Amino acid sequence: MKTEILKMLKNTEGYISGQELCEKLGVSRTAVWKAIRRLEEDGYEIDAVRNKGYHLKMVGDILSKEELESVIDTAWAGSRVLYFDETDSTNNVIKREAEQGAPHGTLAVSDYQSGGKGRRGRVWKSPHGVGIWMSLLVRPKLRPAAAPMLTLLSALAAADAIREVTGLDSLIKWPNDVVISGKKVCGILTEMSSEAEQIYYVVPGIGINVNTESFPEDIADVATSIYLETGRRVRRSPIVAAFLRAYEKYYDLFMKHQDMTDLLDLYNSRLANRDRGVRVLDPENAYTGTARGINKDGELLVETEDGKIHRVNSGEVSVRGIYGYV
Ligand code: BTN
Repeated sequence: MKTEILKMLKNTEGYISGQELCEKLGVSRTAVWKAIRRLEEDGYEIDAVRNKGYHLKMVGDILSKEELESVIDTAWAGSRVLYFDETDSTNNVIKREAEQGAPHGTLAVSDYQSGGKGRRGRVWKSPHGVGIWMSLLVRPKLRPAAAPMLTLLSALAAADAIREVTGLDSLIKWPNDVVISGKKVCGILTEMSSEAEQIYYVVPGIGINVNTESFPEDIADVATSIYLETGRRVRRSPIVAAFLRAYEKYYDLFMKHQDMTDLLDLYNSRLANRDRGVRVLDPENAYTGTARGINKDGELLVETEDGKIHRVNSGEVSVRGIYGYV
């Protein structure tokens, strides 16, 4: 009911009467009043005026199940929301849920992760109150070899969401870091459960540094946050909602061909490494070239000095900028 009241308050410009809330929700005045009190305890500023009703004055950067449900407007992505003030890792939450049969589109968001995971076994620092730490559950009917491409979709959707909400020029460092002014603002860890022929589920885990004020010295020159880029504090829930809108759109397009055909131009237009020097860290044979964009299979095309085009597969090797992080 809190979610319903919140939605109605958000959708009303002026005041909405207690009577109207009671009638629409089919509950008593006391029940409405109690829910309003609980919303105030969560941090919403609500004006209550006799004979006029209730008015939502201000929404701060509140992250809660009700707040997320009140902004999410997608058909399936985030159709079920699990919210935690604290958990080990939202990827672990979703994996546990998936094993219990949770539906496609389940979303887990946590304000803090005690065991946030990065790629290649690294730790992903996930402090309270400043970031978006979220994971989605998808159950694609897809050949397992195509799964790495899902990671490209997450990067595209995260870059879009940041762009839409903040206006910042967020780009992608192939395959799936989102960067602003050449520094990483978002990382993605995709985990999967599959057998040879079949995917059971995929968990894209997205970490966005939103209101982080500073980073430890060892990563300060490669990491950034939306706050550091704009000088403004930004609300997190609209970014989650924008991410889900973009992800749902791109996922549905991707599943049509089960490759990047319909997303190729968009992804390449967002590619920070495009036409830049890159070092391909192939364990057998590291080499340097110029990134030319991805192909429909999500591979990065790297042109070497001899004019040869190499296809780099994200699962196998990583790519570094020659002159910096990108
Ligand atoms: C990376 O760039 O190394 C990937 C970072 C991924 C972090 C996110 S935060 C939400 C989800 N839960 C995790 O434990 N990791 C991912």
